[in-house]
Amino acid sequence: MNNRKSIYTLAIESSCDDTGVAILYNDKILSNVVATQEIHRQYGGVVPELASRAHQQHIVPAITQALKQAGISKNDLSVIAFTEGPGLLGSLLVGSSFAKSMALGLGIPLIGVNHMQAHILAHFINDVAQKIPTFPFLCLTISGGHTQIVKITNHFEMEILGETLDDAVGEAFDKSAKILGLPYPGGPLIDKYARQGNPEAFDFPQPKTKNPLDFSFSGLKTSVLYFVERQTKKDPKFVKNNIDDICAAIQYTIIQILMNRLKKVVKKTGIKRVAIAGGVSANSGIRMTLAQAEKDHHWTTYIPKFEYTTDNAAMIGIVGYYKYLAKDFSDLSVTPKARMRF
Ligand code: KG4
Ligand code: ZN
Repeated sequence: MNNRKSIYTLAIESSCDDTGVAILYNDKILSNVVATQEIHRQYGGVVPELASRAHQQHIVPAITQALKQAGISKNDLSVIAFTEGPGLLGSLLVGSSFAKSMALGLGIPLIGVNHMQAHILAHFINDVAQKIPTFPFLCLTISGGHTQIVKITNHFEMEILGETLDDAVGEAFDKSAKILGLPYPGGPLIDKYARQGNPEAFDFPQPKTKNPLDFSFSGLKTSVLYFVERQTKKDPKFVKNNIDDICAAIQYTIIQILMNRLKKVVKKTGIKRVAIAGGVSANSGIRMTLAQAEKDHHWTTYIPKFEYTTDNAAMIGIVGYYKYLAKDFSDLSVTPKARMRF
Protein backbone atom coordinates (compact mmCIF):
# COMPACT_ATOMS: atom_id res chain seq x y z
CA MET A 1 0.00 0.00 0.00
CA ASN A 2 1.25 3.51 -0.81
CA ASN A 3 2.67 5.56 2.02
CA ARG A 4 0.84 8.52 3.50
CA LYS A 5 2.63 11.02 1.29
CA SER A 6 1.58 9.73 -2.10
CA ILE A 7 -2.04 8.66 -2.27
CA TYR A 8 -3.72 8.82 -5.66
CA THR A 9 -7.52 8.68 -5.33
CA LEU A 10 -9.94 8.21 -8.22
CA ALA A 11 -13.37 9.48 -7.17
CA ILE A 12 -16.73 8.91 -8.85
CA GLU A 13 -19.89 10.97 -8.18
CA SER A 14 -23.18 9.81 -9.71
CA SER A 15 -25.89 10.66 -7.17
CA CYS A 16 -28.09 12.77 -9.45
CA ASP A 17 -27.74 14.08 -12.99
CA ASP A 18 -24.03 14.92 -13.23
CA THR A 19 -21.37 12.29 -13.85
CA GLY A 20 -18.25 13.40 -11.98
CA VAL A 21 -14.79 11.86 -11.97
CA ALA A 22 -11.81 13.39 -10.16
CA ILE A 23 -8.23 12.39 -9.47
CA LEU A 24 -6.54 13.58 -6.29
CA TYR A 25 -2.92 13.46 -5.22
CA ASN A 26 -3.32 13.46 -1.44
CA ASP A 27 -5.61 16.47 -0.73
CA LYS A 28 -4.90 18.25 -4.04
CA ILE A 29 -7.02 18.01 -7.17
CA LEU A 30 -5.26 16.85 -10.34
CA SER A 31 -8.44 16.70 -12.43
CA ASN A 32 -12.14 17.29 -11.82
CA VAL A 33 -14.34 16.28 -14.76
CA VAL A 34 -18.09 16.87 -14.71
CA ALA A 35 -20.26 15.55 -17.56
CA THR A 36 -23.56 17.44 -17.27
CA GLN A 37 -26.70 15.77 -18.58
CA GLU A 38 -28.52 18.26 -20.80
CA ILE A 39 -31.38 15.82 -21.53
CA HIS A 40 -33.32 16.83 -18.38
CA ARG A 41 -33.79 20.46 -19.46
CA GLN A 42 -36.62 19.63 -21.86
CA TYR A 43 -38.52 17.87 -19.03
CA GLY A 44 -38.17 20.72 -16.51
CA GLY A 45 -36.46 18.48 -13.93
CA VAL A 46 -34.33 15.37 -13.49
CA VAL A 47 -35.89 12.17 -14.93
CA PRO A 48 -34.29 9.34 -12.87
CA GLU A 49 -34.46 6.67 -15.58
CA LEU A 50 -32.80 8.96 -18.14
CA ALA A 51 -30.17 9.99 -15.58
CA SER A 52 -29.07 6.36 -15.02
CA ARG A 53 -28.78 5.76 -18.77
CA ALA A 54 -26.77 8.94 -19.28
CA HIS A 55 -24.39 7.96 -16.42
CA GLN A 56 -23.77 4.66 -18.28
CA GLN A 57 -22.84 6.62 -21.40
CA HIS A 58 -20.66 9.20 -19.63
CA ILE A 59 -18.74 7.21 -17.06
CA VAL A 60 -16.04 5.59 -19.23
CA PRO A 61 -15.20 8.76 -21.22
CA ALA A 62 -15.17 10.79 -17.96
CA ILE A 63 -12.74 8.35 -16.31
CA THR A 64 -10.48 8.33 -19.37
CA GLN A 65 -10.49 12.13 -19.48
CA ALA A 66 -9.82 12.52 -15.74
CA LEU A 67 -6.81 10.15 -15.88
CA LYS A 68 -5.49 11.91 -18.98
CA GLN A 69 -5.82 15.39 -17.45
CA ALA A 70 -4.16 14.20 -14.24
CA GLY A 71 -1.30 12.72 -16.27
CA ILE A 72 -1.37 9.36 -14.52
CA SER A 73 -2.29 5.80 -15.46
CA LYS A 74 -4.90 3.65 -13.71
CA ASN A 75 -2.05 1.52 -12.38
CA ASP A 76 -0.83 4.51 -10.30
CA LEU A 77 -4.11 4.64 -8.34
CA SER A 78 -4.11 3.86 -4.59
CA VAL A 79 -7.87 3.80 -3.95
CA ILE A 80 -11.29 4.23 -5.59
CA ALA A 81 -13.87 6.41 -3.79
CA PHE A 82 -17.51 6.60 -4.90
CA THR A 83 -20.81 8.13 -3.77
CA GLU A 84 -22.64 5.54 -1.68
CA GLY A 85 -25.69 7.79 -1.00
CA PRO A 86 -27.96 9.63 -0.61
CA GLY A 87 -29.27 10.08 -4.14
CA LEU A 88 -31.20 8.49 -7.00
CA LEU A 89 -30.74 4.75 -6.67
CA GLY A 90 -30.40 4.01 -10.40
CA SER A 91 -27.77 6.73 -10.75
CA LEU A 92 -25.86 5.58 -7.67
CA LEU A 93 -25.87 1.99 -8.98
CA VAL A 94 -23.94 3.01 -12.10
CA GLY A 95 -21.15 4.73 -10.14
CA SER A 96 -20.95 2.14 -7.37
CA SER A 97 -20.90 -0.86 -9.75
CA PHE A 98 -18.18 0.77 -11.80
CA ALA A 99 -16.15 1.66 -8.69
CA LYS A 100 -16.40 -1.88 -7.32
CA SER A 101 -15.33 -3.48 -10.60
CA MET A 102 -12.43 -1.08 -11.00
CA ALA A 103 -11.17 -1.59 -7.43
CA LEU A 104 -11.46 -5.37 -7.85
CA GLY A 105 -9.71 -5.29 -11.23
CA LEU A 106 -6.84 -3.15 -9.95
CA GLY A 107 -6.61 -4.91 -6.58
CA ILE A 108 -6.90 -1.63 -4.61
CA PRO A 109 -9.19 -0.54 -1.74
CA LEU A 110 -12.71 0.79 -2.20
CA ILE A 111 -14.29 3.60 -0.15
CA GLY A 112 -18.01 4.49 -0.08
CA VAL A 113 -18.69 8.18 0.59
CA ASN A 114 -21.70 10.06 1.96
CA HIS A 115 -22.59 12.79 -0.56
CA MET A 116 -23.65 15.29 2.12
CA GLN A 117 -20.44 14.79 4.11
CA ALA A 118 -18.60 15.35 0.83
CA HIS A 119 -20.32 18.71 0.18
CA ILE A 120 -19.03 19.83 3.60
CA LEU A 121 -15.52 18.37 3.38
CA ALA A 122 -15.06 20.04 -0.03
CA HIS A 123 -13.76 22.89 2.16
CA PHE A 124 -10.72 20.73 2.98
CA ILE A 125 -9.55 20.46 -0.62
CA ASN A 126 -6.08 21.97 -0.72
CA ASP A 127 -6.62 24.85 -3.15
CA VAL A 128 -5.32 28.41 -2.97
CA ALA A 129 -8.81 29.70 -3.79
CA GLN A 130 -10.32 28.61 -0.47
CA LYS A 131 -9.45 28.64 3.21
CA ILE A 132 -9.66 25.51 5.34
CA PRO A 133 -12.05 25.69 8.33
CA THR A 134 -10.98 25.20 11.94
CA PHE A 135 -13.04 22.73 14.05
CA PRO A 136 -15.68 22.99 15.34
CA PHE A 137 -17.62 24.90 12.70
CA LEU A 138 -21.17 25.12 11.36
CA CYS A 139 -22.10 24.40 7.77
CA LEU A 140 -25.22 25.52 5.94
CA THR A 141 -25.55 22.78 3.31
CA ILE A 142 -27.93 23.93 0.59
CA SER A 143 -28.54 21.95 -2.57
CA GLY A 144 -31.27 20.71 -4.88
CA GLY A 145 -31.98 17.79 -2.58
CA HIS A 146 -31.01 18.99 0.91
CA THR A 147 -31.09 21.91 3.32
CA GLN A 148 -29.29 21.36 6.60
CA ILE A 149 -27.37 23.19 9.29
CA VAL A 150 -24.64 20.85 10.47
CA LYS A 151 -22.19 21.07 13.38
CA ILE A 152 -18.82 19.61 12.35
CA THR A 153 -16.57 18.46 15.19
CA ASN A 154 -13.96 16.69 13.07
CA HIS A 155 -13.71 15.19 9.56
CA PHE A 156 -16.05 12.34 10.50
CA GLU A 157 -18.21 13.64 13.35
CA MET A 158 -21.16 15.67 12.09
CA GLU A 159 -24.50 16.47 13.68
CA ILE A 160 -27.57 17.88 11.91
CA LEU A 161 -29.02 20.71 14.06
CA GLY A 162 -31.75 21.82 11.67
CA GLU A 163 -33.10 20.67 8.32
CA THR A 164 -35.93 21.17 5.88
CA LEU A 165 -39.29 19.60 6.63
CA ASP A 166 -40.36 19.64 2.97
CA ASP A 167 -38.69 21.13 -0.12
CA ALA A 168 -34.94 21.74 -0.29
CA VAL A 169 -33.82 25.31 -0.89
CA GLY A 170 -32.68 24.40 -4.45
CA GLU A 171 -36.21 23.14 -5.13
CA ALA A 172 -37.62 26.42 -3.82
CA PHE A 173 -35.47 28.25 -6.38
CA ASP A 174 -36.20 25.80 -9.22
CA LYS A 175 -39.96 25.48 -8.60
CA SER A 176 -40.40 29.26 -8.26
CA ALA A 177 -38.45 29.68 -11.50
CA LYS A 178 -40.71 27.16 -13.23
CA ILE A 179 -43.78 29.16 -12.15
CA LEU A 180 -42.15 32.21 -13.76
CA GLY A 181 -41.67 30.25 -17.00
CA LEU A 182 -37.87 29.95 -16.63
CA PRO A 183 -36.07 26.76 -17.79
CA TYR A 184 -34.62 24.11 -15.44
CA PRO A 185 -32.54 24.52 -13.33
CA GLY A 186 -33.92 27.96 -12.58
CA GLY A 187 -31.79 28.76 -9.50
CA PRO A 188 -28.93 30.41 -11.41
CA LEU A 189 -31.46 32.42 -13.50
CA ILE A 190 -33.28 33.76 -10.42
CA ASP A 191 -29.83 34.77 -9.14
CA LYS A 192 -29.06 36.54 -12.44
CA TYR A 193 -32.35 38.52 -12.61
CA ALA A 194 -32.31 39.27 -8.87
CA ARG A 195 -29.08 41.24 -9.25
CA GLN A 196 -30.97 44.00 -11.11
CA GLY A 197 -34.15 43.86 -9.04
CA ASN A 198 -35.56 45.46 -5.92
CA PRO A 199 -35.95 42.84 -3.14
CA GLU A 200 -38.58 44.93 -1.39
CA ALA A 201 -40.82 45.36 -4.43
CA PHE A 202 -42.97 42.39 -3.36
CA ASP A 203 -43.50 40.62 -0.09
CA PHE A 204 -43.56 36.82 0.38
CA PRO A 205 -44.38 35.23 3.74
CA GLN A 206 -41.82 33.42 5.88
CA PRO A 207 -42.69 30.03 7.41
CA LYS A 208 -42.95 29.12 11.09
CA THR A 209 -41.61 25.69 12.11
CA LYS A 210 -42.12 23.75 15.36
CA ASN A 211 -38.37 23.47 15.82
CA PRO A 212 -37.15 27.05 15.20
CA LEU A 213 -33.95 25.66 13.64
CA ASP A 214 -35.80 23.72 10.92
CA PHE A 215 -36.70 25.03 7.46
CA SER A 216 -39.82 24.87 5.33
CA PHE A 217 -40.01 26.02 1.72
CA SER A 218 -43.21 24.51 0.32
CA GLY A 219 -45.29 27.53 1.46
CA LEU A 220 -43.08 29.93 -0.47
CA LYS A 221 -43.62 28.02 -3.72
CA THR A 222 -47.41 28.13 -3.18
CA SER A 223 -47.43 31.84 -2.38
CA VAL A 224 -45.34 32.57 -5.51
CA LEU A 225 -47.86 30.55 -7.56
CA TYR A 226 -50.92 32.41 -6.17
CA PHE A 227 -49.16 35.76 -6.47
CA VAL A 228 -48.28 35.17 -10.14
CA GLU A 229 -51.80 33.90 -10.94
CA ARG A 230 -53.38 36.94 -9.27
CA GLN A 231 -51.12 39.48 -10.96
CA THR A 232 -51.30 37.84 -14.39
CA LYS A 233 -55.09 38.03 -14.33
CA LYS A 234 -54.79 41.82 -13.99
CA ASP A 235 -51.86 42.16 -16.42
CA PRO A 236 -50.89 39.25 -18.72
CA LYS A 237 -47.40 40.74 -19.14
CA PHE A 238 -46.81 41.12 -15.39
CA VAL A 239 -44.08 38.48 -15.09
CA LYS A 240 -42.21 39.62 -18.18
CA ASN A 241 -42.29 43.29 -17.09
CA ASN A 242 -41.33 42.62 -13.47
CA ILE A 243 -39.02 39.61 -13.70
CA ASP A 244 -36.06 41.33 -11.98
CA ASP A 245 -38.11 42.51 -8.99
CA ILE A 246 -39.99 39.21 -8.61
CA CYS A 247 -36.72 37.24 -8.64
CA ALA A 248 -35.09 39.69 -6.19
CA ALA A 249 -38.06 39.37 -3.79
CA ILE A 250 -38.06 35.53 -3.97
CA GLN A 251 -34.30 35.34 -3.43
CA TYR A 252 -34.46 37.86 -0.59
CA THR A 253 -37.15 35.79 1.18
CA ILE A 254 -35.13 32.58 0.79
CA ILE A 255 -32.00 34.26 2.17
CA GLN A 256 -33.98 35.68 5.11
CA ILE A 257 -35.28 32.18 5.95
CA LEU A 258 -31.74 30.73 5.80
CA MET A 259 -30.08 33.54 7.77
CA ASN A 260 -32.79 33.57 10.44
CA ARG A 261 -32.06 29.88 11.26
CA LEU A 262 -28.32 30.24 10.92
CA LYS A 263 -28.20 33.14 13.40
CA LYS A 264 -30.22 31.09 15.92
CA VAL A 265 -27.81 28.14 15.60
CA VAL A 266 -24.78 30.41 16.06
CA LYS A 267 -26.41 31.84 19.19
CA LYS A 268 -27.32 28.40 20.56
CA THR A 269 -23.94 26.75 19.94
CA GLY A 270 -21.70 29.79 20.44
CA ILE A 271 -19.80 28.71 17.29
CA LYS A 272 -19.06 31.68 15.04
CA ARG A 273 -17.23 29.82 12.29
CA VAL A 274 -19.77 29.38 9.50
CA ALA A 275 -19.34 27.61 6.17
CA ILE A 276 -21.71 27.16 3.23
CA ALA A 277 -21.78 24.18 0.89
CA GLY A 278 -23.87 22.63 -1.89
CA GLY A 279 -25.05 23.85 -5.27
CA VAL A 280 -27.13 26.76 -3.93
CA SER A 281 -24.04 28.19 -2.20
CA ALA A 282 -23.10 29.40 -5.70
CA ASN A 283 -25.86 32.03 -5.24
CA SER A 284 -24.39 35.54 -5.30
CA GLY A 285 -26.96 36.94 -2.86
CA ILE A 286 -26.17 34.26 -0.27
CA ARG A 287 -22.43 34.82 -0.70
CA MET A 288 -22.84 38.59 -0.23
CA THR A 289 -25.12 38.19 2.79
CA LEU A 290 -22.64 35.85 4.44
CA ALA A 291 -19.74 38.19 3.75
CA GLN A 292 -21.79 40.98 5.38
CA ALA A 293 -22.54 38.76 8.42
CA GLU A 294 -18.79 38.32 8.84
CA LYS A 295 -18.51 42.07 9.34
CA ASP A 296 -21.74 42.63 11.29
CA HIS A 297 -21.59 39.66 13.67
CA HIS A 298 -17.83 38.96 13.71
CA TRP A 299 -18.27 35.53 12.16
CA THR A 300 -15.48 33.75 10.32
CA THR A 301 -17.04 32.52 7.09
CA TYR A 302 -15.90 29.89 4.62
CA ILE A 303 -17.17 30.16 1.07
CA PRO A 304 -16.08 27.30 -1.22
CA LYS A 305 -14.54 27.67 -4.65
CA PHE A 306 -17.33 27.68 -7.22
CA GLU A 307 -16.39 24.35 -8.90
CA TYR A 308 -16.59 22.53 -5.55
CA THR A 309 -20.12 23.78 -4.75
CA THR A 310 -22.31 22.01 -7.33
CA ASP A 311 -22.13 18.21 -7.56
CA ASN A 312 -18.58 17.12 -8.38
CA ALA A 313 -16.25 14.20 -7.70
CA ALA A 314 -13.41 16.26 -6.15
CA MET A 315 -15.47 16.49 -2.96
CA ILE A 316 -16.00 12.70 -3.00
CA GLY A 317 -12.25 12.30 -3.44
CA ILE A 318 -11.32 14.44 -0.43
CA VAL A 319 -13.56 12.32 1.82
CA GLY A 320 -11.97 9.24 0.23
CA TYR A 321 -8.53 10.62 1.13
CA TYR A 322 -9.42 11.20 4.80
CA LYS A 323 -11.12 7.81 5.05
CA TYR A 324 -8.04 6.20 3.47
CA LEU A 325 -5.84 7.79 6.16
CA ALA A 326 -8.27 6.46 8.80
CA LYS A 327 -8.23 3.02 7.05
CA ASP A 328 -12.02 3.19 6.79
CA PHE A 329 -12.57 0.98 3.73
CA SER A 330 -15.72 -0.56 2.23
CA ASP A 331 -15.90 -4.15 1.12
CA LEU A 332 -17.30 -5.35 -2.19
CA SER A 333 -20.68 -6.15 -0.64
CA VAL A 334 -21.39 -2.41 -0.16
CA THR A 335 -24.66 -1.28 -1.80
CA PRO A 336 -25.76 2.25 -2.70
CA LYS A 337 -28.39 3.91 -0.52
CA ALA A 338 -31.10 6.34 -1.65
CA ARG A 339 -31.28 7.64 1.93
CA MET A 340 -28.21 7.90 4.10
CA ARG A 341 -27.48 9.84 7.30
CA PHE A 342 -24.01 10.84 8.52
O1 KG4 B 1 -25.56 20.49 -5.08
P1 KG4 B 1 -26.24 20.51 -6.41
O2 KG4 B 1 -25.40 20.67 -7.64
O3 KG4 B 1 -27.04 19.18 -6.62
C1 KG4 B 1 -27.69 18.52 -5.60
O4 KG4 B 1 -27.05 17.73 -4.87
O5 KG4 B 1 -28.91 18.80 -5.48
O6 KG4 B 1 -27.36 21.64 -6.35
C2 KG4 B 1 -28.18 21.93 -7.44
C3 KG4 B 1 -29.13 23.07 -7.07
C4 KG4 B 1 -30.21 23.34 -8.11
O7 KG4 B 1 -31.45 23.44 -7.44
C5 KG4 B 1 -29.80 24.70 -8.72
O8 KG4 B 1 -30.89 25.48 -9.16
C6 KG4 B 1 -29.14 25.34 -7.52
O9 KG4 B 1 -28.38 24.31 -6.93
N1 KG4 B 1 -28.25 26.47 -7.89
C7 KG4 B 1 -28.52 27.76 -7.56
C8 KG4 B 1 -27.46 28.52 -8.12
N2 KG4 B 1 -26.59 27.68 -8.76
C9 KG4 B 1 -27.09 26.41 -8.59
N3 KG4 B 1 -29.52 28.30 -6.86
C10 KG4 B 1 -29.51 29.63 -6.70
N4 KG4 B 1 -28.56 30.45 -7.20
C11 KG4 B 1 -27.51 29.94 -7.91
N5 KG4 B 1 -26.56 30.76 -8.40
ZN1 ZN C 1 -25.20 17.60 -4.04
